Amino acid sequence: MNQSIGVFDSGYGGLTVLKEFVNVLPQYHYKYLGDNMRAPYGTRSFETVYAYTLQCIEWFFKNDCPLVILACNTASAKALRSIQQQNLSAFGENKRVLGVIRPTSEVIGNFTKSGHVGLFATNGTVQSNSYALEIAKFFPDVQLSQEACPMWVPLIENNEHLEQGADYFIQKHINQLLQKDQSIDTILLACTHYPLLMDKLKQFLPGNICVVPQGKIVADSLKDYLERHSNFFGILSQNGGCEFYTTGETQDFNEKASLFYGQQVASRQVSPL
Ligand code: DGL
Repeated sequence: MNQSIGVFDSGYGGLTVLKEFVNVLPQYHYKYLGDNMRAPYGTRSFETVYAYTLQCIEWFFKNDCPLVILACNTASAKALRSIQQQNLSAFGENKRVLGVIRPTSEVIGNFTKSGHVGLFATNGTVQSNSYALEIAKFFPDVQLSQEACPMWVPLIENNEHLEQGADYFIQKHINQLLQKDQSIDTILLACTHYPLLMDKLKQFLPGNICVVPQGKIVADSLKDYLERHSNFFGILSQNGGCEFYTTGETQDFNEKASLFYGQQVASRQVSPL
């Protein structure tokens, strides 16, 4: 009963997902790891994202987290499947790694009336085509248009996203996405950083378009998963709480994390390398 749920992101974005985990499942204990030293992952190759993510998963398993959620679309798109298929069994029984793409794909079709869905994500997530493949399994009639927004994560990480200068890059990608399909009535934020742009997106998007962040979706899915996998019930701590770890500078992490998490955090530095 002393084990934690591991929550991983390349940097700060996964904190928007962790926040929803704590809302929906406050009884569990969480360890969050941001690989800030090596973020962003969005423009890195498959091999690099896979290698970095695997190192961080090993860190979680060594640090009493038998269940790890990749709260990062880029890592989910580029590393999750390989890790599940090639590496997981070597870590022993009862070790699980879950991502954010499948749970989001399972429900996104329920948000659209027109059947036309748009998606904003990193280059890596768009190039992987993971969302198109997953959504087609659950909603074969949904038409998905994808738009990579390589500037959005750096703008958010540097807390420049609410400045006027950011508007150019936000509007540019909105326009490019809507040019791909004018019937879009639902836009998925398929990057855990993007909920911080919600106000700006609503300001620049036509009012009939519903913008869907994925934190609550992934949290509801985790709740369902834990109800179906009672093997975790006996080993996961039920005393609540969160610990925060970063591969980067703790002072930097603590300053920026509150933007994503909504409250102050005190992190510790680790090196899973
Ligand atoms: N938070 C990551 C995601 O959801 C993107 C950040 C990065 O590029 O490292 O894709």
